[in-house]
Amino acid sequence: MRFENQVVVITGAAGGVGRTLVTLFAKEGAQMMLADMNEAGLQEAASEAQNYGSNVAYLAGNLREKDYCEQLITTAAETFGGVDILLNNAGIIPRGTIEETTDEMWFTAMDVNLNAVFFLCRASVPHMKRRGGGAIVNTSSVWGTYPGPGHVAYCTSKGAVAALTKNLGRDCAPMQIRVNAVCPHEINTPMIRSGFERRGLDPDKAIDELNKTVPLGRIAEPEDIADAIAFLASDEARYIAGETVEVTGAKPVSG
Ligand SMILES: NC(=O)c1ccc[n+]([C@@H]2O[C@H](COP(=O)([O-])OP(=O)(O)OC[C@H]3O[C@@H](n4cnc5c(N)ncnc54)[C@H](O)[C@@H]3O)[C@@H](O)[C@H]2O)c1
Repeated sequence: MRFENQVVVITGAAGGVGRTLVTLFAKEGAQMMLADMNEAGLQEAASEAQNYGSNVAYLAGNLREKDYCEQLITTAAETFGGVDILLNNAGIIPRGTIEETTDEMWFTAMDVNLNAVFFLCRASVPHMKRRGGGAIVNTSSVWGTYPGPGHVAYCTSKGAVAALTKNLGRDCAPMQIRVNAVCPHEINTPMIRSGFERRGLDPDKAIDELNKTVPLGRIAEPEDIADAIAFLASDEARYIAGETVEVTGAKPVSG
């Protein structure tokens, strides 16, 4: 029970990795404030957490809105008495080269993938200070640190999340707040499957092909990433701060 009675805020809690995080942290005793714009998915995630005896609440909303980001942290602190861990897991992947990327695609990527992370971290730090410390795990991407082709808005936003993480990692360490990020390669979630569907491909067949490109023999399952996030959030990672941890099955970025 690594997270017994700790208050954990999870964004993107209705998504592929998010649902897995909810189950993992529920099994390990966390109290959770779940966030997503998919209210039905949030309800399902919350009731699953309750099945494990977790004390859980949720607030549906759009991470593009600064007020919602701040409200989320305030509500978590009011509901559970504080905030110990923030998992900035939500993200979107607009696909396109610079000529294909509209203003809307660009601003949405920056708002959801980067600005929300900034607003949520900024709102959480005072609560963590009050508790004598805390942990933040952001989700960047190897496509942020080594940009892949044809995803200019996504790669730029995720690269900025990596830089933000390293900066906060240094600035927040004296407050005993550890800030780290995971940088996954491909994960078998709706994010990647919907991309294949949009291109008219069968997601199962496409993932079989993708598995062959990974030295460990398969792309990540959500559990592979959730376990890395939980490790970074836990006391087992007590001396790790300001790091961006690649979780790739040894697959390099190419193309
Ligand atoms: N799937 C991959 O291959 C992959 C690879 C590298 C990094 N990542 C990152 O991992 C994280 C989790 O991704 P996933 O694969 O579970 O994706 P997902 O699409 O399954 O889940 C993302 C969740 O974020 C929520 N969300 C999106 N925009 C929102 C908004 N404006 N307001 C509130 N909620 C919003 C969605 O409703 C969804 O439930 C993301 O940050 C993603 O960029 C994913």
